[in-house]
Amino acid sequence: NHLDNNCIAIFGASGDLTRRKLIPALYHLYATKQLSASFSILGISRTEYSDTTYRTKIKESLIVSEKLEDSEQLNEFCSHIHYQPLDTADKANYAALKERLAALSEQYLTAGNIIYYLSTPPSLYGVIPECLAEHGLNQNDDGWKRLIVEKPFGYDKASAVALDEQLHRFFAEEQIYRIDHYLGKETVQNLLVFRFSNGLFEPLWNRNYIDHVEITSAESIGVEGRGGYYDGAGAMRDMFQNHLLQVLAMVAMEPPALINSNAIRNETVKVFQSLHPLDEKALEHDLVLGQYTASKVRGEPLLGYREETGVEAESSTETYVALKLSIDNWRWNGVPFYVRTGKRLPTRVTEVVIHFKKTPHPVFGQNTPDNKLVIRIQPDEGILMKFGLKKPGAGFESQEVSMDFRYDSLDGDEVLTAYERLLLDSIKGDPTLFARSDAVLACWDFVQPILDVAQSNPTRYGYACGTWGPKEADELLSRDGREWRFPC
Ligand code: BG6
Repeated sequence: NHLDNNCIAIFGASGDLTRRKLIPALYHLYATKQLSASFSILGISRTEYSDTTYRTKIKESLIVSEKLEDSEQLNEFCSHIHYQPLDTADKANYAALKERLAALSEQYLTAGNIIYYLSTPPSLYGVIPECLAEHGLNQNDDGWKRLIVEKPFGYDKASAVALDEQLHRFFAEEQIYRIDHYLGKETVQNLLVFRFSNGLFEPLWNRNYIDHVEITSAESIGVEGRGGYYDGAGAMRDMFQNHLLQVLAMVAMEPPALINSNAIRNETVKVFQSLHPLDEKALEHDLVLGQYTASKVRGEPLLGYREETGVEAESSTETYVALKLSIDNWRWNGVPFYVRTGKRLPTRVTEVVIHFKKTPHPVFGQNTPDNKLVIRIQPDEGILMKFGLKKPGAGFESQEVSMDFRYDSLDGDEVLTAYERLLLDSIKGDPTLFARSDAVLACWDFVQPILDVAQSNPTRYGYACGTWGPKEADELLSRDGREWRFPC
């Protein structure tokens, strides 16, 4: 389809994200023949590389990260890569960029279709679109133009609104693709299919049958050399405001009337708008912020957060959040959602646990196992159902048993990584899995009071590396007679 022919212009071409995620994703799409044969990649950043030097750098990094041989296929892919040095903040410089893009369009027959990928520091998110517009490079008339914006989309509510206004001055909402890579994960999308295509589960998915919901996103890594960025962000901005709220929306949304980008995104926005606002008083009980402290994990000494490079010695940035929240609508009234995320926890796992209510009368005693559905988003993607069965022998004692489905038992198509999926969708012009402006702002509406409270009360509970976070997070549930699941 010639509409898929395009140039991907990556601002921030010498950065980490480009090397680690974007180029490998584009390479795999190319190698599996999912990219149109007419494409080019234009790396843009300040450093003065030639096409050849940049190409060589990319090739070497692909060989290492993707464990590739130096093959004809790799060379052919790299031949599509070009480079343009540019001082992004200087409007005058964009005249050269315009010429370059026109030449590439002619060379690769891409009909003026361009994706601008902003993989730069957020301070440039406003400037680049303005400079592009100055030179008419935002105009859809001569081929389509799309703008992919990486997170963070704003630092707080006010800056998100300002950024949104700035982008909308130069690009229409339909042209803007805000990346949240969690939406690109196959298992996150599966939540919709699982919920809305199974008569077995769909009728149970509400306050009548669900007792509470847990969402956990644990990482065993620390800040991994990103201390400078992370110290200004923290777990609330880095994981909760975007990724975890998007997962929550998939768990909680109403069925879309159609499967199209507007219908689905309309429903997710409604979830964000129905989040019960948390005031200072509620947050005293319902919010736990923690920070990892130096400790040994399996004999290996690990730094505490405040000792990491780029982190302030007295930093109060949280590396762990646990929050109890609720949704003010018919489906979820009275059902608590417990959400937690943290770095330096015992393992890497993201999962949603649906806890079902007990049967009305405890005829077999109080100790019958609860029914749970564990939706494993990563790793070991799959679904685990836990319920009670009779213990063999005398009496009517029950025991917990499991039914287990794992994605890797499916034959067939290879699952695309999140970046592969999202890049492909942006090339095809499908914005379903990208955050819409109103959704991002609604998320900030919910998160801003939490950030304000966190700022005015800098208490952070310490937790040793390799543990499940501060004990106060356990109390958040035990107070309600519940406990977290501790996945291994
Ligand atoms: C990123 C955060 O958006 O998501 C990182 O900035 C975090 O701090 C990462 O490690 C987690 O993504 P994934 O796909 O590994 O769960």
